[in-house]
Amino acid sequence: MKKVVIITGASRGFGELIAKKFQKENFQVIATMRNIDSSPSLKELDNIDIKKLDVTVKSDIKNIVDFTIEKYGRIDVLINNAGYGAFGFLEEASDQEIKNQFDVNFFGLIDCIRGVLPQMRKQKDGVIINISSIAGRFGLPFTSLYNSSKFAVEGLTECLHYELSLFGIDIKTVAPGSFRTGFHDSVNFTESEKKEDLDDVREKLKIALEEGIKKEPPFPFGFGNNDDVADFVFKQSITKSKVSNFIGRDTKIINFFIKIFGRELLFKIIKKQWFNKIMSKNKL
Ligand SMILES: NC(=O)c1ccc[n+]([C@@H]2O[C@H](COP(=O)([O-])OP(=O)(O)OC[C@H]3O[C@@H](n4cnc5c(N)ncnc54)[C@H](OP(=O)(O)O)[C@@H]3O)[C@@H](O)[C@H]2O)c1
Repeated sequence: MKKVVIITGASRGFGELIAKKFQKENFQVIATMRNIDSSPSLKELDNIDIKKLDVTVKSDIKNIVDFTIEKYGRIDVLINNAGYGAFGFLEEASDQEIKNQFDVNFFGLIDCIRGVLPQMRKQKDGVIINISSIAGRFGLPFTSLYNSSKFAVEGLTECLHYELSLFGIDIKTVAPGSFRTGFHDSVNFTESEKKEDLDDVREKLKIALEEGIKKEPPFPFGFGNNDDVADFVFKQSITKSKVSNFIGRDTKIINFFIKIFGRELLFKIIKKQWFNKIMSKNKL
């Protein structure tokens, strides 16, 4: 019997590639997405069910879990991949923008975990992989909402791995570095609560973000290969590995840097690199 995987945010980016990888490895794939027509290339493949799931809609989650158990009788793997970045000054984000970031990246992920747990506990078996980010391990400027949502994912996973191990369920994070997916084009710049005195610096920040994130990665190591992430996630799902796992050359270099020089020096370098772009020299 084929093993069964549920993937969130499979319309594009990592999620779509992860769905293809599991399909190739002979899994039955439940590829979930907000709009079921978003990925024509997944539709052409065997052993993939394309199903509607917005991770912020609890009834969607229940429908996916019920469908999977009814049709296949088990859930072996959950990949919590859906997510987006809310960037900008915290002060200028509206309550709704703040809530949306956590609803998708954190509370939606919690709801998906809670959705599959009864079945995985019954099976006394299962793997949950939460796609976090290197941004969930150290802070970056002007991304406090995104970073904190991913820090929350890291913290949740680290804590949950104790209790889930009681039931034979493995939970871990996969934290990618910089990869060129749709992520950068979907960044939500939070500015609903504009402050006039931030007008000047906000405009420079938007230009710097545009240049620094959309055109080239925030770290000077180039973008990684997206297929490597899909291969890595698959590998983590079939092997006993650490609770936190990193993928991308930049993550290796940054983790090594932190180990040798500490986080404070990294913060200083990041400040210099970023603030040079948006502040006058005398404010540095
Ligand atoms: N790319 C990177 O450099 C990078 C680095 C570290 C971590 N990550 C993480 O990797 C994950 C995948 O991102 P990606 O890089 O593949 O970006 P992407 O190409 O923008 O894909 C994001 C996916 O999330 C889905 N999504 C967004 N909101 C959703 C919701 N409410 N319910 C269900 N699905 C939703 C999107 O669906 P729609 O098509 O409907 O919008 C899309 O399928 C994210 O968690 C991201 O934070 C990315």
